[in-house]
Amino acid sequence: MDPKPEDAAARRAGALRELIRYHDRRYYVLDDPEIPDAEYDRLFQELQAIEAAHPALRTPDSPTQRVGGTVLDSFAPVRHRVPMLSIRTETDTTADGARAFDARVRRELGLGVGDPAIGYACELKFDGLAINLRYEAGVLVQAATRGDGETGEDVTANIRTIRPIPLRLQADDADAPAVLEVRGEVYLRRDDFERLNERQREAGGKTFVNPRNAAAGAVRQLDPAVAAERPLSFFAYGLGEVAGWEPPPTHAATLDAIEAFGLPVCADRRVVRGAEGLVAFHAEIEARRDALAFDIDGVVYKVDDRALQQRLGFLTREPRWAVAHKYPAQERTTRLLGIDVQVGRTGKLTPVARLEPVFVGGTTVGNATLHNLFELRRKRVRVGDMVIVRRAGDVIPEVVGRIGEPRAGYVPNFRMPRACPVCGSAVRRDRGSVEHRCTGGLFCAAQRKQALLHFASRRAMDIEGLGDKLVDQLVDGGLIRALPDLYRLDAAELAALDRMADKSAANLVAALGHRKRTTLARFLYALGIRHVGEATAKSLARHFGALDRVMDASVEDLQAVPDVGPVVAASIRVFFEQPHNREVVDALRAAGIAWDEHDGAPPAAALPLAGCTVVLTGTLPALTRDEAKAMLEAAGAKVAGSVSKKTTAVVAGEEAGSKLDKARALGVPVLDEAALRAWLAGSPPPAVAAGSGTADAA
Ligand code: IVH
Repeated sequence: MDPKPEDAAARRAGALRELIRYHDRRYYVLDDPEIPDAEYDRLFQELQAIEAAHPALRTPDSPTQRVGGTVLDSFAPVRHRVPMLSIRTETDTTADGARAFDARVRRELGLGVGDPAIGYACELKFDGLAINLRYEAGVLVQAATRGDGETGEDVTANIRTIRPIPLRLQADDADAPAVLEVRGEVYLRRDDFERLNERQREAGGKTFVNPRNAAAGAVRQLDPAVAAERPLSFFAYGLGEVAGWEPPPTHAATLDAIEAFGLPVCADRRVVRGAEGLVAFHAEIEARRDALAFDIDGVVYKVDDRALQQRLGFLTREPRWAVAHKYPAQERTTRLLGIDVQVGRTGKLTPVARLEPVFVGGTTVGNATLHNLFELRRKRVRVGDMVIVRRAGDVIPEVVGRIGEPRAGYVPNFRMPRACPVCGSAVRRDRGSVEHRCTGGLFCAAQRKQALLHFASRRAMDIEGLGDKLVDQLVDGGLIRALPDLYRLDAAELAALDRMADKSAANLVAALGHRKRTTLARFLYALGIRHVGEATAKSLARHFGALDRVMDASVEDLQAVPDVGPVVAASIRVFFEQPHNREVVDALRAAGIAWDEHDGAPPAAALPLAGCTVVLTGTLPALTRDEAKAMLEAAGAKVAGSVSKKTTAVVAGEEAGSKLDKARALGVPVLDEAALRAWLAGSPPPAVAAGSGTADAA
């Protein structure tokens, strides 16, 4: 008898499912994909097509069945067969917290000093939402939240959308446990969280304060399609009910077994011995904490040996054999006492939250940035609210949002001041920009202070000893009105200031003196021209070679510099058009600031075509426009876009248009490609050939 077509389809569907599961695991669990996405998509689409043609073949554990079901009214309660416990938290965030746990375990086991060290399984404490996954005969049948530990909520439809969670265990049907409950944490990676918020912002939707809230919100979504759009991840860390399978005798081996079943288990886990092993793990993870792909709030230590775990037993709802050892929180809640406005070096106004001081991320934070008016509005914070403050690594503390407690009464929304809080100048916001700026420039003391700090900074003039506090005193005390005043300070005057000793005053004066010798690039950067960072300053120095040439460059000249576009060029032009800024530059040079012009680049003036301006038009026979431009610039010429009386020569090719006409009209020499090459090779400069439009340089 011929095999029925259904049989062939069923076989193919089975094979495809196995393949897709395999590649899902490579991609989501092992982070080591073997095939390109397009190849994977092809397999997936083939399986979808078979299931569409033969609906009877559709199985609940098919990879196509992750998103499905309907929008729920509420989640059904799920009674945990084995209660979901929590773990005791060790609040002493120092190494002593780890030692205290080991001491307690040893005491409860009745161990003395002579007894061997205990083996501990160390893991990370993931900052997400605890979930119980129930597999029956290898198939995921239910997923539930922890709830109160006894009863949780059935969130199966949402959990099925999490790609790293297998819908079927990796085991031969015969080897799959009758029941296997795997417990772990659903979380969001930091990069996925950023992308999610970015997407939400673009769509005008609500953004999430942190990865944990976003993950928890997704799991508790009544519409699985919405949950499916959140790129959730999962790490397993333990077991619930088990039947028809004997778990290994240690926790570490149990995690290995869970991993072998195809579930993601975090690789940052290790078995250590004794208190000092715990201390070392805690320190190692703390050092790497900011570099992890996801948030953690500590590490977890578990007695590795299950027999010892059983001897230790439970204390009400917490096992005596495990503890969470925290790190200083990177997020805390506190009261927003007020909103100040700070003025930065470029005049940008930043709303800054004044907070009830709170210990977060290892330091006490009393101020945190709110970025700009629009961020502040988006976060809906008002004075008096309880807010969440976040400080991760070295980043500036920020207010991430408010806690949704009702306000006691009406609180007016924050407004940006119309006048600069420091100098009273008008505040402006460019169309389309989220930033408010003070228009006072160096008239504004805040901008003057920041300008000074920038001028003295390491990558600018590198003047050691000129810190925030001193700059405040110098500007507020009227000792410095403009940058050049720095070089008029004397040691006695400085020593008279608060917190300045004779020695530090003398050191500063000495530093000012011997840093007068600098480079053009550093000096340009030190001036603090808007949009001119270190790299641009270097390009400018290399291109122009001399300060006067930069100061006198037109917007067009400036745009000939690599990486200088219209915005940067305009900013440089505007800066040097201000008589005040030119005075500052002159005064600084008069004070003795000097550099070797050209900064190591070939001095432009010494190049053969220095001072020449050339215009290119039409198509040259062999050279592209860019090639011709590069050759001219390398020889020191400036390549301009339009012809004037000052143009040295116009290089014209096929289909040259109005520029050629203009050159002729103005009597500017016109070269063809051959003449250009000859000129670059050292022939005499071009001259206008009598009577003809095209000059020959020879
Ligand atoms: S073990 C009996 N291990 O922390 C021990 N929990 O209070 C049960 N958590 O909400 C928990 N990372 O979701 C364990 N590596 C880890 C964990 C972890 C995070 C969460 C867990 C629970 C809380 C414990």
